[in-house]
Amino acid sequence: MSAKKETLGKTVGIVVAVCLACSIVVSSSAVGLRSLQQSNAALDKKTNILSAAGLIEMASNKKEIQEVFASRVEEKFIDLATGQYVDKPSEDFDMYKAAKDPDFMVRVEGSNVGFQRRSSVANVYHVKDEAGEIARIILPVHGSGLWDLMYGFLALDNDGQTIRELIYYQHKETPGLGAEIQNPAWQDKWDGKKIFGVDGSVEIAVKKGVKAGDVYAVDALSGATLTSNGVQNTLQYWAGENGFGTYLKNQSWKS
Ligand SMILES: Cc1cc2nc3c(=O)[nH]c(=O)nc-3n(C[C@H](O)[C@H](O)[C@H](O)COP(=O)(O)O)c2cc1C
Repeated sequence: MSAKKETLGKTVGIVVAVCLACSIVVSSSAVGLRSLQQSNAALDKKTNILSAAGLIEMASNKKEIQEVFASRVEEKFIDLATGQYVDKPSEDFDMYKAAKDPDFMVRVEGSNVGFQRRSSVANVYHVKDEAGEIARIILPVHGSGLWDLMYGFLALDNDGQTIRELIYYQHKETPGLGAEIQNPAWQDKWDGKKIFGVDGSVEIAVKKGVKAGDVYAVDALSGATLTSNGVQNTLQYWAGENGFGTYLKNQSWKS
């Protein structure tokens, strides 16, 4: 009887010890890998920005990505209401996290962009040419697709009007359908399109049956109308007066 109890106790003890050892291994590797994950995420972000900047061909490894980014891209911060530059709010400022911070939170109403809050301050990126002049402006954009929010970078010429790239880097759309937003053939269709119509309103559209030479429209993805609508809603919002519209119209980077 007592031998049986001892056996049960030992078994439980071994199970507990194994669980404890495993949880120590898992949690210490999670902590140990956190800085590596953060640096990979930062590198990934720079890679996407360089793609939007049209400079990714200059960088074929981690070191070159850091170098090209440091020499050609400058991160700036905008107060979206005024369109004016502001100082970086804090060392670790993140506009997506700031959307939940009462100091920065702005409610989004009457829009179908798919989120209810955004930050009052947003990042933008100046891309400089070899002479140090601002050649492109890169704007972070996000909005809902079919399944979830889709995150990307919109690159404009320094006229604040001509699109050069729309690079999506995070989404949950379906491979072969909505995920075709990352297909280079579709991405290429954005080059040269215009955002604002002659009356200054946001005119760029994603639709079926785009006529040749239409600079205000890009073909909707086939079998993925809902994702395509999401892209259009995203651009409508972020180029509009509640997004970067004031900044783009002021052309603050020229003053
Ligand atoms: C499993 C599944 C996944 C789908 N994924 C997407 C998607 O990622 N994006 C999208 O717009 N539509 C997706 N659809 C299709 C939509 O339900 C809808 O039919 C489509 O957007 C209509 O596009 P169309 O007018 O070009 O046919 C999916 C449908 C199914 C059954």
